[in-house]
Amino acid sequence: MIETDILIIGSGPAGSTAALALSTYGIRNIIVSKHGWVANSPRAHITNQRTFEVLRDLGIEEEGRALAVPLDKVGKSIFCTSLAGEELARVYAFGTHPARHAGYELSSPCAMGDLPQHLLEPILVSTAASRGTRLRFDTEYLSHVQDESGVTATVLDRLSGETYQIRAKYLIGADGGRSKVAEDIALPMEGSLALAGSTNIVFEADLAKYVEHRPAVLFLVVQAGLADTGIGIGVIRMVRPWKEWLLHSGYDISKPAPKLTDAEAVQIVHNMVGDDSIPVKIKSTSLWTVNNRYATRYSSGRVFCMGDAVHRHPPTNGLGSNTSIQDAYNLAWKLALVVNGKANPKLLDTYNVERAPVGRQVVERAIKSMESYGGIFEALDLLNVKDAVEAHASMDALKTSTPEAAARREDLRKAIAAKDYEYNAHGVEMNRIYSSSAVVPDGTAQPLPTQDPELYYHPTTFPGSRLPHVWLQRDNQSVSTLDLVGKGRFTVLTGMGGDAWRDAASDAEQYFGVTVDTYIIGPARDFTDLYGDWAEMREIAEAGCLLVRPDGHIAWRASSAPKSINHAITSLRDAMAQILGLGHSKPSAGTASSIYADAVTV
Ligand code: FDA
Repeated sequence: MIETDILIIGSGPAGSTAALALSTYGIRNIIVSKHGWVANSPRAHITNQRTFEVLRDLGIEEEGRALAVPLDKVGKSIFCTSLAGEELARVYAFGTHPARHAGYELSSPCAMGDLPQHLLEPILVSTAASRGTRLRFDTEYLSHVQDESGVTATVLDRLSGETYQIRAKYLIGADGGRSKVAEDIALPMEGSLALAGSTNIVFEADLAKYVEHRPAVLFLVVQAGLADTGIGIGVIRMVRPWKEWLLHSGYDISKPAPKLTDAEAVQIVHNMVGDDSIPVKIKSTSLWTVNNRYATRYSSGRVFCMGDAVHRHPPTNGLGSNTSIQDAYNLAWKLALVVNGKANPKLLDTYNVERAPVGRQVVERAIKSMESYGGIFEALDLLNVKDAVEAHASMDALKTSTPEAAARREDLRKAIAAKDYEYNAHGVEMNRIYSSSAVVPDGTAQPLPTQDPELYYHPTTFPGSRLPHVWLQRDNQSVSTLDLVGKGRFTVLTGMGGDAWRDAASDAEQYFGVTVDTYIIGPARDFTDLYGDWAEMREIAEAGCLLVRPDGHIAWRASSAPKSINHAITSLRDAMAQILGLGHSKPSAGTASSIYADAVTV
């Protein structure tokens, strides 16, 4: 029988990120995917800052960046009746509004980018393979059984028709929105499936003359009838400027799914472009349904699900692939520590506790954003029109100077402004504060947001939050605080007068057998804070301490210098013991050796 540590079902963003992270941390893993290769269509594209930070930590940010279209160049959403038709509104998207841009730039060393899924997946999968992941494409997961020491999965080789078994310590179900793994472990789900039918058309057409003067990723097409199906609006999305595109339109879910011919697809494209003289080459068409569903638990025993397997929602807000990648990043370091015998398996429970609320939030946000398209159609009086003549009349009435038309224009402006929650939901993307046994509270209250937490990111070092980014300096180079953490290690960050924390980190490293790096920030120390940004950001005294998890989230903090070296050692050991699920850290005969074991008496 084939054996591995972690068997991953699915090579989408979730599965391939899990594989890449695990291989980076030195954990054996196998991916099986029922398809012959990775995603064959663009699908997800908006890659947010947190996801780019994950790629950065895993060493592939540059490869991703090279294939991404920078959003500062195309970060707009344009509402129109067709590309050739009337333009109704332009929205600054993805933090490109001058008033929002600084907030994005200050929050991360990474900019957002438009990186289509079929270009990202090969980077993830091939880098994972180059670091040790074994790949089995054309291989379908059929079933599994688990026992006290592992999981045995039965898979089908779709080329030979033979079935065989793979034995692993843990199984990851990253098998997408129709997850068989999630079904097999009976994950509890809330919400409903198949709310509406949507059609994807990937096509090539030179549309430069309609878009070059107003570069945008998304062209939202408002035409009578488009509100009732799909995501409630027509979408023409840039895949590669300005020649490759993905179009969404809807179909009536109460009727049998349409079988679209290329000629029909071209007609839909021409209709939304508003110009039937444009040559169009259809690359593919596919159907998908709009879902509103999330799991309230992500695992059962040794089986963990992630990605669309546990959160299924429309593409509004562009959170699907991003959240899938971040699920994987959350679980991988925990699995690595458990497989290496450094943490109690109960650390794995924190994956449920930390990620299930995120999945729910993401689904709810995406659904609200989809529903809010309705307000635009309503303001345009396009919801109940019978035909194109009535639609034109409604649009024309909007251009008169009557009080009714003025009120409708104001409604339209408000409906468009509400789309900020879809296109600039920086807080939804970045404000993750985990609360679980892998985070040690420090007795302080979580700071209240000063601005709308869905729209704005609020940096904090409150335990559970992602380490805030600021630029530090060393050897004439700028280095992000986020570059000091990650790579599968714990990190202690302290400042002038915090040397005892470095000694405590060395102790913890030996005591628990895990890597705990320390950086002292201050003049003539590891990194300098020349701008003073870190002093502003850290929320602890200079000689206080932040213990940061391998995923860049703050596990514990001490507000000030320790009273003594023993105090530092005991505090850090206790924190690490809780995070690793090892109970109290007090050394006893037979525990790991410690350079300070004799010194610790508390
Ligand atoms: P995904 O579905 O990608 O992968 C599942 C994997 O499991 C595949 O490798 C498949 O072969 C495999 N598999 C399934 N069953 C199996 C079995 N029984 N045995 C073996 N293998 C099996 N998201 C985003 O973040 N930003 C965006 O802009 C968009 N935009 C967007 C547009 C459109 C049109 C769509 C349809 C979707 C998006 N998304 C998005 C969503 C995004 O595409 C989606 O969330 C991710 O692909 C989910 O990644 P997963 O890895 O979870 O599953």
